[in-house]
Parts: sequence; C-alpha cells; structure tokens
Amino acid sequence: MTAGSMNGKTCLVTGATHGVGLASARALAAAGATVLLHGRDAALGAALAADIARVSGNGAVRFVHADFLHLEQVRELAAGIARLPRLDVLINNAGIIDTARRCTAEGYDATFGVNHLAPFLLTNLLLPKLTACAPARVIVIASEAHRRAGWLDFGDLMNTRVGYLRAYARSKLANLLFMRALARRTRGGGVTVNAAHPGVVRSQLFRGLPAPLRFALATVLRPFTCSPAQGARTGVYLATAVELERASGGYYRDCRRLEPAAAARCDEAAARLWSESVRLTGLEAA
Ligand SMILES: NC(=O)c1ccc[n+]([C@@H]2O[C@H](COP(=O)([O-])OP(=O)(O)OC[C@H]3O[C@@H](n4cnc5c(N)ncnc54)[C@H](OP(=O)(O)O)[C@@H]3O)[C@@H](O)[C@H]2O)c1
Repeated sequence: MTAGSMNGKTCLVTGATHGVGLASARALAAAGATVLLHGRDAALGAALAADIARVSGNGAVRFVHADFLHLEQVRELAAGIARLPRLDVLINNAGIIDTARRCTAEGYDATFGVNHLAPFLLTNLLLPKLTACAPARVIVIASEAHRRAGWLDFGDLMNTRVGYLRAYARSKLANLLFMRALARRTRGGGVTVNAAHPGVVRSQLFRGLPAPLRFALATVLRPFTCSPAQGARTGVYLATAVELERASGGYYRDCRRLEPAAAARCDEAAARLWSESVRLTGLEAA
C-alpha cells in the first residue's frame, strides 16, 4: 500500500476530539494535510488542534464546531467549510452508542441522528465542494456491528422497539447503505466513497455501557481490542492510498476489502433509506 502525498489537501474528520477520529486527524496532519478537526467541545477541540500542530510540525490544523444532535449546526458547519478554498477528504467518523436513548433537536432517535442523519446531510451539503476539488474521497467509519442489525426496519427507523445495541447496529448498517447509494450516485465522477471497520477500539465509545461489559473489554476481551491509532489505520488508508484513487463502494477492514452483510448490499434498501433521509433532514430545502 502506498500513501499519496497529502500536501495541499484538506481533510475534514468528524468526531476528532477522541478515539479513532483524533488518531486519524493526527495521522493526516503528520502526512502533511490541512486538517479540519471537528467536534462539539470548542475548548477541547482548539487545545487538540494546537497539540496536533505542535507534535506534527504542521500548523494547518483547525477546529470546526457542530453538535450532531442539531441538524441546524450541521448546516452551519457545511456552510463554513464550503467557504474554504478546498475540501479533498471527508471522514465521517463521529458516532455514539446512546445508552441514554436521547432524541435529537428535531425529535429523532439520537443514535440514528448522530450516526446516520448528520453525516448524510453533511456529506450531501459538501458534495459540490468535494466535486469541485476532485479527485476527492468520502470515507464512512462503519462497523462489523452492522451484521447484528438484521434487515433495516423502515417501520421503526427511530428504534422505538429495540435496545441501544440493536439501535447502534442499525445505524452502522445505515452507514453502509448510505455508502452504497452514494457510490452509485457519484460513479464516474471525481468523488469516491468507501467504508471502514476500525476494529474493536479502546476509545470512549463504550463509556456508557454497563460496568461488567466495560470490565470484560478491559480484561478478557482486551487481546481482541486495538488502540485508536491502530483503529484509524484503515480509514486513513482509504483517505490516502494511491491505489484507491478510483476505488469506490467498498467496505474495508485491516486495509483489505471484505463483503458486508447481505442487508448492506441491498440496493432497494439503500435507495429507500436515501429518500427517507432526504425527507428527515429536509435536504431538498437546503
Ligand atoms: N470503538 C470501536 O470499537 C468501534 C468499532 C467499530 C466502529 N466504530 C466507529 O468508529 C467511530 C469513532 O468511534 P470511537 O470508537 O473513536 O468513539 P469515541 O472515542 O467515543 O469518539 C467518538 C467521537 O464522536 C464525537 N461525537 C459524539 N457525539 C457527537 C455529537 N453529538 N456531535 C458531534 N460529535 C459527536 C465524540 O465527541 P466528544 O469527544 O465530544 O464525545 C468523539 O469525538 C464511530 O463511528 C464508531 O461507530 C468504533
């Protein structure tokens, strides 16, 4: 695998204040990219941007704000980025396991909202910018958890009839269906889209899980986990690898392509999720 030069390229990493996103931002800054480090905590984000700039020797690291529980803030984020000179890479990484079962500002299930609707809206609003800067890449950080979702339940997109782990699995299935539909729509253009499973990463993602589960992850399951830096590798590979310049529509783990579950390969579900997401985000009114 050959990483292309990232000098002169601008990369937006969502959810870059912890875990996989933070490690991805560090790796891209070290590779010479201009990095837009997204988060919802301005003080933390600014401090992290300064730290990455200091450690990497790359001063082109900047914090950008949006709370994905508010689609209005996603719109503001997209509008701010559209005014910048370039956008070459978008890594849709921000994600939650919402044990508290909250709602977004729009009244949608928070897991579906933060993990799917916000990146769906952000990506669509930034697509003209990415297209203008082509060749450009969109990367979706999905998960092997999608295999536990079954078929996407369009009668319960807001997850009222399932627990938080199934809701999370469904959101990761939605990530893969979104990636599939977007790859189809951008085919032959200058924007590619691929998805990654980062591994089971020792990040903040599991912070709300019951103590016995967190204990198991920290002890007996620890050999099956990896650091955020290791977890970032596949997404950064999709963002930088020369050999993937034209590759689109793929799902990768450990920098290798693999077949997602049948439910994630269903074009009918991908198209239906797309139109539902347009309606729920009000994208046509953007
Ligand atoms: N960890 C794993 O084992 C694993 C496995 C498969 C897939 N993934 C996926 O990898 C991605 C990154 O997860 P991670 O493990 O690095 O988790 P993490 O350490 O919890 O980081 C998640 C990031 O998303 C941000 N975020 C959460 N809620 C947000 C909101 N409302 N608005 C904006 N940003 C928000 C967090 O911001 P704060 O810093 O403010 O909380 C944080 O920067 C997720 O999409 C996850 O589904 C993780």
